[in-house]
Amino acid sequence: MTQFIFNGDKGLRVDTCYKSTEGLALFDFAKNHSTFAGKAGEIYYLPSMEGQGQYLLGLGDRDKLDLEALRKASFNLARAAKDNKTATLHLNLNDFELDGLKEEAVLEALMEGFLQAEYKFSRKSDMAKDEDDSKEQDVELEIAFLNNLDEAAFGKTERRIRNLIDGIFLARNLVNQTSNEMYPEVLADKVKEVFQDLPVEVRILDEHEIQDLGMEAFYSVAKGSDRPPRFIIMEYDGGEEGQEKTALVGKGLTYDSGGYCIKSARGMSTMHCDMGGAGTVIGTLLALAKNQVPVNVVAVVAACENLISGSSYKTGDIIGSLSGKTIEVGNTDAEGRLTLADAVYFATDTLKADRLIDLATLTGAVVAALSDEYTGAITNDEAYFEGLQEVAKTEGEKIWLLPNDENLAKKNRDTKVADVLNSTSGGAGTITAGQFVGEFLAREVPWIHLDIAGTAYGDRAKGYVPERATGVLV
Ligand code: BES
Ligand code: MN
Ligand code: ZN
Repeated sequence: MTQFIFNGDKGLRVDTCYKSTEGLALFDFAKNHSTFAGKAGEIYYLPSMEGQGQYLLGLGDRDKLDLEALRKASFNLARAAKDNKTATLHLNLNDFELDGLKEEAVLEALMEGFLQAEYKFSRKSDMAKDEDDSKEQDVELEIAFLNNLDEAAFGKTERRIRNLIDGIFLARNLVNQTSNEMYPEVLADKVKEVFQDLPVEVRILDEHEIQDLGMEAFYSVAKGSDRPPRFIIMEYDGGEEGQEKTALVGKGLTYDSGGYCIKSARGMSTMHCDMGGAGTVIGTLLALAKNQVPVNVVAVVAACENLISGSSYKTGDIIGSLSGKTIEVGNTDAEGRLTLADAVYFATDTLKADRLIDLATLTGAVVAALSDEYTGAITNDEAYFEGLQEVAKTEGEKIWLLPNDENLAKKNRDTKVADVLNSTSGGAGTITAGQFVGEFLAREVPWIHLDIAGTAYGDRAKGYVPERATGVLV
């Protein structure tokens, strides 16, 4: 377990430098004896046989230093300390130029990056794991630089960041568990357990209630699996009564085989990740509730599996939905939007949300357009989106807004036999998929759709974002 210590002075000294720093002996030494150049996040470690080694942490160009660079640098420092078996680090930033960054935000970024180094997911056998774990050093970080923050503020910041990290790690753990151990009933039970002692009301609808309520779009996807679906509702009222209520809707396919429009072996191999949206909304709610953030938020997940069997839905089926709209199934692999259709309608109708954000690993097309770097977005309210974008930027999360073009939206209605069609042709698949979800808002409320198919899950680590589930956007 990582510990943070306010103004301690026992650890191994960590100096910081910008590329432009002059007159720092350790920096000169590092430059002369290694390739160290003071780049952001770069670490130089000078061990000592006598016991007191030293660290130098690069911060790059002074005018480019932002909170995200600090998170990454802090993560690298924690990793380096673990690798070098350093038990306690002493970071003294008394002479550190804050350059407009708030002390508290700097502390948050340092703590967040440092804690990120703790994340692990593995199903290696205990035998193999013991060997790995015994190598992992616990690191304490002493931070001394706080001219304006006292110990109480330090402690408060630490608790806030630890709660955020809990949300991020929960999101990752839910998504990383493969479909043999993480299926709708397990997810529902886990949600109950996680929120047990928190002011979050959890309601779970089973397969009978789902059908009785008329969630035909959702149930059509779910019915091919022997594992029954669960509709999961989590309500957190941290704000005033009557204050705006935000709905977070997360796609919750615990596995997506594609159904009768079956995926390739390769395409299917990571499809336990198709509940990335669910992971993010559940993790977000955990962080909000633990931090007692004064907002009213309801999170909704329609959890199911898209499989093949004698009871699966089929290409060409015409199905109903909770909204009353009928849907022609052009492709059983475009299942996410069907589950979201009922979830979004439920959130805006029954739950009366005033605004809504949905997150979904919805299309391969978003990966073609934006790779694993950007989440793709569409919205019906650009001012609402700008608010999200601003926060995302300070948190190091990349989002790219795509055009919510009415001519493209029309493609979803290009069917002779139903109100809408779940697959379109002619490109812009990320946009039309998002617009399909938007068709199911019960009222015209501010709405943002986030396609995280490229960003929720990856095959390589990127800085403090690990390989596999990322916990994107918590
Ligand atoms: N879950 C997939 C999208 C996906 C792809 C997520 C890659 C993560 C990584 C989604 O259900 C899907 O299959 N979408 C289809 C839609 C098409 C049939 C209209 C796609 O993108 O191919
Ligand atoms: Mn699919
Ligand atoms: Zn899917």
